[in-house]
Amino acid sequence: MSIAETFAPAELDIDWVRAQFPALAQTVNGHPAAFLDGPGGTQVPQRVIDAISNYLRRDNANTCGAYATSRRTDAMLADARAAMADFLNCGADEIVFGQNMTMLTYAMSRAIGRDLGPGDEILITRLDHDANVSPWLALEEKGVTIRWAEIHADDCTLDVEDLAAKLNSKTRLVAIGYASNAVGTINPVKEIVRLAHSFGALAYVDAVHYAPHGLIDVADLDCDFLVCSTYKFYGPHMGVLYGKREHLERLRPYKVRPLSEAVPLRWEWGTLNHECIAGVAACVDYIAEIGRHENPTSRKSGEKWGTPAVVTTRRAAIISAFESIHRHEHGLMNRLMAGLSEIRRLKIYGITDPSCFDWRCPTLAVRVVEQSTEETPLALATKLGDRGFFTWDGNYYALNLTERLDVEKSGGFLRIGLVHYNTVQEVDRLLAALREIVGA
Ligand SMILES: Cc1ncc(COP(=O)(O)O)c(C=O)c1O
Repeated sequence: MSIAETFAPAELDIDWVRAQFPALAQTVNGHPAAFLDGPGGTQVPQRVIDAISNYLRRDNANTCGAYATSRRTDAMLADARAAMADFLNCGADEIVFGQNMTMLTYAMSRAIGRDLGPGDEILITRLDHDANVSPWLALEEKGVTIRWAEIHADDCTLDVEDLAAKLNSKTRLVAIGYASNAVGTINPVKEIVRLAHSFGALAYVDAVHYAPHGLIDVADLDCDFLVCSTYKFYGPHMGVLYGKREHLERLRPYKVRPLSEAVPLRWEWGTLNHECIAGVAACVDYIAEIGRHENPTSRKSGEKWGTPAVVTTRRAAIISAFESIHRHEHGLMNRLMAGLSEIRRLKIYGITDPSCFDWRCPTLAVRVVEQSTEETPLALATKLGDRGFFTWDGNYYALNLTERLDVEKSGGFLRIGLVHYNTVQEVDRLLAALREIVGA
């Protein structure tokens, strides 16, 4: 038995989970497709597909009209806000919808930057996706000084001491990621928010990568803003921003004049993508359904998996879902990590010490040591893709990290991203394929 085989994930009703996702049944060149590309976007369950197509079929309308389809659109938007409020643990009026996380962050940096100028500082990190970097760098045009928190290169964790040392009375905002989309590191967000606040700075959190893997509680984090993208957690291509009510009211958006001044509408410019938003409540409800499905306390004894829950609120069901998701994903990650570490020619980036795995997501970046042109991340991803494994190569826009680790010019990393619908069999097949491609 290999080291990898000693790790089996704790139970999740994986057959029920996979049956929700029509896309997972595909094959490539006769091989079953293994979706290991979750960090770039996950697949969607049937209920999300239905919600979007039903909206287009029945209700396709603009808001605030005095007729049935428009009223149903208003109700659908309110439902979607309430669902995201349950997902993040905030008020529904603190939820702003937008095209994607990047555009929302540019909108917010522009509004925050209105009041900033020379003498003000913003602190960003080397670990972040560029969507939480460039919108802040843009404020250099206004004379704002941008400072960088460094990383520990050996395990790709954030150097929190360095971050703390760079905070001062001029710091107006700290922009951090909840988790790295390249190497999986989870940052001590709550501690960093507290540090930022102790200097009077705002805390802006990019939770795009973390959202499919762990419970988010903005009330507990006490962050000022948190952004995520629903296409990373089983929903449509939409961005969602949480902003503390006081900031959404206080800051001045660049909005058109007829648009309401009420929060959160004043941050949503132009007509939104209603059909996608119709899928947002469905994707949050899917996650809640995992919790109801998996949580034995919601079933009477003797009842089978899948018995509808009777006891939990949606938030409680979401909490329960993330417990099951975490157990399953960590079982898979342990197995994958153990198997990859047996392939001598592969270097794994990020946290590899199992005692620290609570500080990482199941997103693994690897490279062949002393790679040939046949073994670049792109070459590996292509060979795996031909065998039905969907992985990514490159920098995934975590550009500062690949530059800092000096892998940018040689193709970045091969990224293997697990989510809860992946299986032990997929992990084992991937390891076998990598052994064949790279050599044991
Ligand atoms: C960590 C992280 N932040 C931000 C983004 C950008 O998200 P969006 O595509 O919604 O703008 C991504 C997308 O990959 C991401 O992984």
